[in-house]
Amino acid sequence: MKKICVVGTGYVGLVTAAGLADFGNSVIGVDIDKEKIRILQEGGIPIYEPGLLEVVERNVKAGRLTFTTDIDSAIQNSRVVFSAVGTPPGEGGEADLRAVWIVAATFAKNLNDYKVFINKSTVPVGTGKKTRELILKESGGSETFDVVSNPEFLREGSAVGDFLNPDRVVVGSRSKKAQTIMKDVYHALITRGVPYVETNIESAEIIKYASNAFLAVKITFINEIANLCDIVGGDVNEVAKAMGMDGRISPKFLHAGPGFGGSCFPKDTMALVEIFKENGIKSRVVEAAIEANELQKQGVVSKLKSVMPELKGKTVAILGLAFKPNTDDTRFSPTKVVIPLLEKEGAELQVYDPVAMQDFKRDFPHLNYKNNAYEAIDGADALILMTEWNEFRSLDLKRVRSLLKSPVFIDTRNIYDPRDMKEKGFIFVCTGRTRCAL
Ligand code: UDX
Repeated sequence: MKKICVVGTGYVGLVTAAGLADFGNSVIGVDIDKEKIRILQEGGIPIYEPGLLEVVERNVKAGRLTFTTDIDSAIQNSRVVFSAVGTPPGEGGEADLRAVWIVAATFAKNLNDYKVFINKSTVPVGTGKKTRELILKESGGSETFDVVSNPEFLREGSAVGDFLNPDRVVVGSRSKKAQTIMKDVYHALITRGVPYVETNIESAEIIKYASNAFLAVKITFINEIANLCDIVGGDVNEVAKAMGMDGRISPKFLHAGPGFGGSCFPKDTMALVEIFKENGIKSRVVEAAIEANELQKQGVVSKLKSVMPELKGKTVAILGLAFKPNTDDTRFSPTKVVIPLLEKEGAELQVYDPVAMQDFKRDFPHLNYKNNAYEAIDGADALILMTEWNEFRSLDLKRVRSLLKSPVFIDTRNIYDPRDMKEKGFIFVCTGRTRCAL
């Protein structure tokens, strides 16, 4: 197997390093963050990702996975170098690639033998070409390397499973030598019959953005259908179920909610719009989805005000801060739009999330954080369920009813049944099935 270096130990880099080691490769995980590397070297992991600790421990123990801050020696000792550094949105929404350029320049300076540089991070179309030009320049014109695009399709909260059992592996490069090496890296998946797509770099870069943007548009579409259902009395769950019976649509990603968040969909849709603009064309569909998604997040406050018009001085309990369950990530979480709007209306907040409160405190240190759902609900005039954590799926509704000063329950994730909630005496609003109780 190949000696592999993975630069960046965030949820993409660490999952990739552990996963590649699990395929039998010898992998060195690198990060500039000494604290992250210290945690990893002491047997911990610096991020919350279900199942990741076990895979890291298994491979560290087997001697296939090590961690270091010494990027130069890690690259010098590797044939394959994955760049899995952050590419966050810049000022105008375009991807900020500074970290990628630093890794590429460091790669160029350590070209002691033929090596493959792999962009694992989500990067705009054309980055592969620019990476090649940068390495050529920084290495004094050395040709002993190839650049490959190998986008990730990991979902936070299920990233380990998504890496070890992917729907497909996409590898973009026209170099036969690089493609042969990549097939060796992913040999364990190929022998299991996992679909393996070899294409050119630009197509591989587009596949990533197109896939994420399509999913974001799909979610936004069902959210708009939910808004229609709430007006005309439809049930969006039943609409989605029947839609999904069409094999061309599929039932996946048709769950209406408060809008998509996370570290990918918001970033990748904005970046894709910028890529269209830079190439002189518009992406009306994706632009519209971005706008509709922001309105969907703001619409959560309108749902509350539809049953409680005056929020000044009212106490509102928020259940869930993460952008989705099974992650501590709150990047672009809908709660980051909803909470400031509620505060602007003069509401007092009591918030709880099983895992993400630490992360949320970075941007919202002043909130009243509670230790569990019932403490957050206690004494509130209304409750808004924002993230469908499992523990919120089986609340003791009698206890909730007794703890609330008024029985207002906004269920943005359609966890509870409108009829049942009405029978239990709640003033209940959800997303696309509110009038089903009437
Ligand atoms: C996404 C893509 O799924 C993944 O392939 C890519 O590599 C990274 O971005 P992630 O952002 O981790 O993964 O989470 P995902 O499970 O896709 O959910 C994204 C957002 O969409 C969340 O806010 C979620 O609540 C929302 N969502 C998802 C819905 O509102 N409805 C759905 O039906 C599905």
